[in-house]
Amino acid sequence: MAGGPSGTAEGVSNASLAWAVIMSAFAAFGGILFGYDTGTIGGVIAMQDWLNVFGQFDPTHVLGKDTNGMYLQTSDKSLVVSILSAGTFFGALLAFPMGQYVGRKWGIVASCVVFALGVGLQLDTKWTTFVVGRVIAGLGVGLVSCLVPMYQSECSPKNIRGLIVGLYQLAITIGALLAAIVLNSTKGENSHSAWRTPIAVQFAWAGILGGGMMLLPESPRYLLQRGHVDKARRALARLTNRPADSAEVDAECTEITLALEEERAIGSGSYADCFKNTELRSGLRTWTGIMLQGWQQLTGINFIFYYGTTFFTSAGIKNPFIITIIADVVNTVMTIVGINMIDRVGRRRLLLIGAVGMMVCEYIVAIVGVTAGHIAADGSVNIDAQRVLIAFVCFYIAFFATSWGPVAWVVTGEIFPLNIRAKGMSLSVASNWLWNFGIGYATPYLVDVSTKGQPNGVATAGLGVKVFFIWGSTCLGCLVFTYFFIPETKGLSLEQIDLLYKESSIINSNKYRKQMIAQNETFVHHDKVTAS
Ligand code: GLC
Repeated sequence: MAGGPSGTAEGVSNASLAWAVIMSAFAAFGGILFGYDTGTIGGVIAMQDWLNVFGQFDPTHVLGKDTNGMYLQTSDKSLVVSILSAGTFFGALLAFPMGQYVGRKWGIVASCVVFALGVGLQLDTKWTTFVVGRVIAGLGVGLVSCLVPMYQSECSPKNIRGLIVGLYQLAITIGALLAAIVLNSTKGENSHSAWRTPIAVQFAWAGILGGGMMLLPESPRYLLQRGHVDKARRALARLTNRPADSAEVDAECTEITLALEEERAIGSGSYADCFKNTELRSGLRTWTGIMLQGWQQLTGINFIFYYGTTFFTSAGIKNPFIITIIADVVNTVMTIVGINMIDRVGRRRLLLIGAVGMMVCEYIVAIVGVTAGHIAADGSVNIDAQRVLIAFVCFYIAFFATSWGPVAWVVTGEIFPLNIRAKGMSLSVASNWLWNFGIGYATPYLVDVSTKGQPNGVATAGLGVKVFFIWGSTCLGCLVFTYFFIPETKGLSLEQIDLLYKESSIINSNKYRKQMIAQNETFVHHDKVTAS
């Protein structure tokens, strides 16, 4: 994703390829830290024993009707869920200096320590400590979300870089799935601190990632950049499973050194350069990255992962935890399908199809919810309406997982010119977290406010579900944005993407891309998957 050419040359043997894949795929484990937290927090704050510690008591309050009168004010709910993303925003911005001065490998290890510290604080029963713990854990997650793809792209063979980046997104979805499973198995626990279990499990994620990273080599590209030639040779030898003095390691060292020299010659762009409209249209590309990540959040996907359990409960669904697990399984399985489609169907086309698919599903969920999804005064529900609701939430997730989920990350990794790539990525990832924070913060207001003024104070799915009208409309925004701003880059090398930005309009990019491929068959074929 980030950085220049990847650390290993092509033509490596299957055994060494497998080794490099295992190592860079292991780093994808970092996605679990984020996915798990996203999937777990909504469930934790809905647990009775958590509410007994942190909630307020008012037996007449609508939000406490199923929790023995204990409830959390909407403002606190917003804060506790979304504050992690605020920490993550700063973590993403800090990732650039951290990766530069501490290194990729030790930067990831340090991030795990930060994350574990934040998790530890969340086991406390003081509200402020809990909230501060989430900010600190967020810093760790933000650092990891930039450093892991940076490490992966520098250590993985370049012809499968797209797949490796996709693995990071897959790990996020697996993290959410694990969260749902852990929540489901702890919810029946009969203790006054069952809420601590799903939180404490995160020590294991930090331990596995941090401990595992200590055993892996540092990025050879980083080592060469810092002038540690011998260490870089040893790292390359381990990554490619070859002796450090072999001719292949020699050739790879030379390849990386040449690429670094080329990079130095271009000169590293400043943050201000990221927004300048140069010949290579850097400004347009930076805004595209920033907006793409913002629109990805505006699809509303994290509404399901943060508040899914609460949402399904308010729709009268009997076992919302199981539905959440189903939603997570759909997300994980369809992400695997999506990763496989990126290089075949194309980025622009997948984003367009995904936006239309999500929009239709979200409007259907909203309409069914409003017209037939109410919990009647006697507590009964319309089972058929519920089934339709669940089915279309799952279709919506499937559309996201095959398009905007992985594709947004892949496009972010490939649209920047070399001289601003690391900074452009950092800004785009920070935008993802900023929107993530904003949406996580605003959503409970949108949903809970709508429960007020109902007969007998009963929360109805019909009103809470209206939020899907908003997500449906934002998906229309995703469609328009993609049409005007996202070029088709399938099968292009990073250098050809530069040319495309220089020579073609976005709307005609596919035509121009085909022309480039037709005129440069061998080069493109050879470099086919490089761009992803
Ligand atoms: C993407 C989004 C993230 C979301 C996840 C769900 O990675 O960036 O916010 O939680 O997809 O699969």
